[in-house]
Amino acid sequence: MTKIAVIVGSTRQHRRGRQVAEWVYEYGRTHSPVEVDFDLIDLADYSLPVLDEPYPAAWGIYQNDHTRRWAESIAAYDGYVFVIAEYNHGVPGALKNAIDYLYDEWTNKSAGFVSYGADGGVRAVEQMRTISAELGLADVREQVVLSTFTDFDYTESDLAHPATAGDFAPEARHVDDLSATLHSVVVWAEAMASVRVSISV
Ligand SMILES: Cc1cc2nc3c(=O)[nH]c(=O)nc-3n(C[C@H](O)[C@H](O)[C@H](O)COP(=O)(O)O)c2cc1C
Repeated sequence: MTKIAVIVGSTRQHRRGRQVAEWVYEYGRTHSPVEVDFDLIDLADYSLPVLDEPYPAAWGIYQNDHTRRWAESIAAYDGYVFVIAEYNHGVPGALKNAIDYLYDEWTNKSAGFVSYGADGGVRAVEQMRTISAELGLADVREQVVLSTFTDFDYTESDLAHPATAGDFAPEARHVDDLSATLHSVVVWAEAMASVRVSISV
């Protein structure tokens, strides 16, 4: 069984990330071969403080229960789909913090990106590709780029209170990009499983 985690990469109140991640998860769950398992992982459920481990994550010596719980969750997967917003032209701090907690758990797995933002979140994804290189996380070329202007519906009430998220209503064309992204994440996850075996012997 190949296991893929869809990770909600933002934690703030009224975030849009959860709705986007549910769309990704539902598509993956219903359109993937039976031997592929999709889960949804929400950073907000882990309440990770700003990194407080005394040793670098690459040493794998975890002192805190919150780190062990997070590590156990992430270690269980062969690939990840990061659902990420762009914050100030970069990766949201909560996601970077959660990534930095771990090391081996990410290494020699696959990664794909679904981004969103006023400008589609593409600058955050470019940062994620640089971060992925350091983690040994194999990032796939295909990606989904969503706009907070055209891929969400807003009611009069939303517009009166712009802090609210609106309703996620992706344009139909994004489904092809999602399908291609998930397909590559799964194929690369399967390939990276044999890389992990080769490296461990
Ligand atoms: C702190 C912060 C910084 C942001 N910076 C950018 C930005 O640089 N570029 C952009 O396109 N959108 C930016 N946005 C808009 C977000 O991409 C958009 O609000 C998105 O919904 C945020 O993700 P979230 O709702 O899951 O938190 C920013 C939003 C926040 C909260």
